[in-house]
Amino acid sequence: MPRLALAGGTPVRTRPFTRWPDHDERERALLLEALEARSWGGYPFPNTFADRFATAFAEAHDARHALPVANGTVAIEIALKAAGLRPGDEVILPAYTFEASAAPVLRLEAVPVFVDVLPSTWCLDPAATEAAITTRTRAILPVHLAMCMADMDAFTAIAEKRGLAVIEDCAHAHGAKWKKVGAGSLGQAGAFSLQTSKLLTAGEGGVVTTNDDETAERAESYINCGRASRADRFGHRLVGFNHRLTEFQAAVLLGQLEKLPAQSARRAARAERLGRALDGIDGLALVEPDPRQTSPAIYQYVFRYDATAFEGASRDRFVAALEAEGIPCDGLFYEPVYRSSLFAVRPGDFRALGDGVPWAETRCPVTERAAYEESVWLHHPVLLGSEKDVDDIVEAIAKIRDNLDDLRTADHPLVHLKSLNRAARR
Ligand SMILES: Cc1ncc(COP(=O)(O)O)c(C=O)c1O
Repeated sequence: MPRLALAGGTPVRTRPFTRWPDHDERERALLLEALEARSWGGYPFPNTFADRFATAFAEAHDARHALPVANGTVAIEIALKAAGLRPGDEVILPAYTFEASAAPVLRLEAVPVFVDVLPSTWCLDPAATEAAITTRTRAILPVHLAMCMADMDAFTAIAEKRGLAVIEDCAHAHGAKWKKVGAGSLGQAGAFSLQTSKLLTAGEGGVVTTNDDETAERAESYINCGRASRADRFGHRLVGFNHRLTEFQAAVLLGQLEKLPAQSARRAARAERLGRALDGIDGLALVEPDPRQTSPAIYQYVFRYDATAFEGASRDRFVAALEAEGIPCDGLFYEPVYRSSLFAVRPGDFRALGDGVPWAETRCPVTERAAYEESVWLHHPVLLGSEKDVDDIVEAIAKIRDNLDDLRTADHPLVHLKSLNRAARR
């Protein structure tokens, strides 16, 4: 039996996977056009390329408005602000997400309330959300995570019943649809990231989407230094900032958006092939996107690892072994936000929190298991190549599965790196 690369054997794969971001002549031509237009910023808001991009993005996501902004973190802040979030309000969000889902809540002097996720999708749990609602709750912030959409039927129903706003964190969900309606147009507003790793990117950038004219007007004012929106129908001017996107980014995004449908279809086909193969491997299980999600967005292909079926070898060991076989992957991609060192909030840092840190005692068991023991994450470009790329991933996993002695005992820098990462972040 061939030794694992972790134990000094030959890796299954040495060729790199598809590079990301992808670009071609189209982006080059658009960039040159933007350069020669000599109007490079996002003023007058949103300017020409950004307006073209916003119109196409809105259409692709079934949204009445799409407002281009500087990044996904401020997109969440703007969406919350435009939805009327006030200092001291509570916002319910999943514990299993990137820290940037929660930081904008604090920046608006409001209070993030971390709630557990469903074991099936690793997205916010509707029943646990309802149980966490208090008289101070103002908004629910579901995150469409990795390759699954949150249960938007449940969240819009809860919000309507309890008089709350729903703001979708769509950083992973470009092109995803719930019952044929685009992510970002199911709640009061949506917030997308266009950062380098994302399915649609200009290196940095973001979009706020909404179907509500008043929300759009407030958002636009907040993005564009407090100016009146182009419509200015409601007189909702806010003390604003400059959160505008540049024309260079918008030019690249126009090209990227044209490619998104074909890339999404390719990723979905590769994911299906991978899923079929993984389903038959003892100790691995697939996440289960809700059948009401009618179009996929696979930002990360995620699956579940069960150490007991691998003679107790930890998930981090498995991930180190897979990486040594030439398959880029991650385990502790996200920590529970309330434990994350990127979310180092000290008592007294934020007035809305009072003297303590409200989540000091929070524990979300499904999130903790997923983050520290179960989840394996494959970044989307590994699904953009050939079927052979997928078969290499499967071959590497099968090799690990057949070589549990090596998996349990091999001493390799990657094993230490993965454990170190984890220790440093805890
Ligand atoms: C779930 C989630 N929310 C928000 C963000 C923030 O986006 P950005 O990095 O563009 O500020 C990210 C980005 O990584 C994310 O993954």
